[in-house]
Amino acid sequence: MVKKAVIPAAGLGTRFLPATKASPKEMLPIIDTPTIQYVVQEAVDSGIEDILIISGRGKRAIEDHFDRNFELEERIKDKEDAMYDEVRNLSNLANIHFIRQKEINGLGDAIYYARQHTGNEPFAVLLGDTIIDSVIPVTQQLIDIYDQYESSVIAVEEVPRDKVSRYGIVGGEELNEKLMRLNALIEKPSIETAPSNLAIAGRYILTPGIYKALEKTPKGKNNELQLTDALVELLKKEAIYAQTFEGKRYDIGNKLDFIKTTIEYALKRKEFSSKVLAFMKEIIAQHEGK
Ligand code: G1P
Repeated sequence: MVKKAVIPAAGLGTRFLPATKASPKEMLPIIDTPTIQYVVQEAVDSGIEDILIISGRGKRAIEDHFDRNFELEERIKDKEDAMYDEVRNLSNLANIHFIRQKEINGLGDAIYYARQHTGNEPFAVLLGDTIIDSVIPVTQQLIDIYDQYESSVIAVEEVPRDKVSRYGIVGGEELNEKLMRLNALIEKPSIETAPSNLAIAGRYILTPGIYKALEKTPKGKNNELQLTDALVELLKKEAIYAQTFEGKRYDIGNKLDFIKTTIEYALKRKEFSSKVLAFMKEIIAQHEGK
């Protein structure tokens, strides 16, 4: 049973400066919802009851976001029912805990902070720079595979070959159209060394064996402890599976994709879709000089 999740949120957000100089990148909103709220919601919708957020300096706003705000609640109580419920429910979504990563030392190091919290249980990892729109939450899709194999499972997605150097890339033996048993993982490989074009998509179910593996893993890319390298170490002891998930992934870790995600999410919202679409047509016409 996977009941716990870990959300690393300690990164400096250097790809989003200057917005992230004094504000956590996880609080940047897609329209009106901070990106980390989408991620927490995915975990909750997948049956996760307990979430550990690995935070760091300058990340207090995340804690406040998932806490009560009595003054605000009082103020909107009688006026805006739906908003009141949403604001009020944010502190009831799950048991959310925080721990601080002392220094920025890579995704692997961030995950290692969760060892006491998750103990001997398998746990989900959700990276905050990806949100995924899907009928069945992707973490749930991975939990279903975990329940079958009781091994670590990683969500993967095909990417164009010229983008493999941006991701962790996996290779292995195909068990069916969607599922693979891994025999290779490489963090941000060159096109020549990539074992496939299947990229690690920021969602994992990990067994507790990952902690021993992390202890044995030397620093890798960017002189940081990489989770992907620790998975290579784990592979010496345990099977690891990769599932091509059902859903659409939005990479919100860079500015251009963030803009695209905002537009798509606006088009999904009833109150904005026709107005945003009309506006887009108008500016496209302007740009084409019509
Ligand atoms: C991290 C992981 C990488 C994965 C990516 C997905 O990299 O190390 O394996 O493919 O997330 O977003 P980052 O984007 O933090 O450099």
